[in-house]
Amino acid sequence: MTPEQTVARIDELGTRARILPVITIPRDADVLPLADALAAGGLRTLEVTLRGPHGLGAIRQLRAQRPGLCVGVGTVLDPQTWAQAVDAGAQFIVTPGCTEELLRLGLDSPVPLLPGVANASDIMLAYRFGYRRFKLFPASVCGGAEALRAFSGPFADARFCPTGGVGPGNLKDYLALDNVMCVGGSWMLPADALAHGDWARVERLSAEALRLVDEARSG
Ligand code: 3PG
Repeated sequence: MTPEQTVARIDELGTRARILPVITIPRDADVLPLADALAAGGLRTLEVTLRGPHGLGAIRQLRAQRPGLCVGVGTVLDPQTWAQAVDAGAQFIVTPGCTEELLRLGLDSPVPLLPGVANASDIMLAYRFGYRRFKLFPASVCGGAEALRAFSGPFADARFCPTGGVGPGNLKDYLALDNVMCVGGSWMLPADALAHGDWARVERLSAEALRLVDEARSG
């Protein structure tokens, strides 16, 4: 994908999604109920991480059985994993940081890359390849909303999806910024709800999160 195509595609995904749930699948049997609970709460664009053994299988299953969802992959650290994720059907790629190798790969990829950045140097590296849309990670550690406000000076055409420590308590700080296109995180998937298969709670937290985002955007 050219940098322009990547920007256009990520903008489309981010604008529609508003929130990107970051999902680590606990058990194979949880894939569909978990995704269905998020979708019932209004979250239909998902980042499935490859942090456990179930990630790739989950992407494959969701693409086959839930065609209405937009399924991306997270925690892509190297070209091999990238290829496996695209083969499984991932519709976008998220990396926690950026390396020249992965940024280059994104330019030849059929699916768009949302590279992770944590500071001005990361952004400058990705700029050289034409990237203008980024995941700020881990957002709460690398400066949060203050960092994004500062980035809007030197990187006026960059937009971000802050992720890491984002939740109901600080959503509005992020969404008040013009350079935030959406926010990401796992707060709607608390560990105890997943452990007990409490899908109603996941649905409730998802709907509540979207409501907060829409309030922030309209206020
Ligand atoms: C990620 O990988 O993007 C983060 O682990 C999600 O952050 P959170 O769990 O703090 O929401």
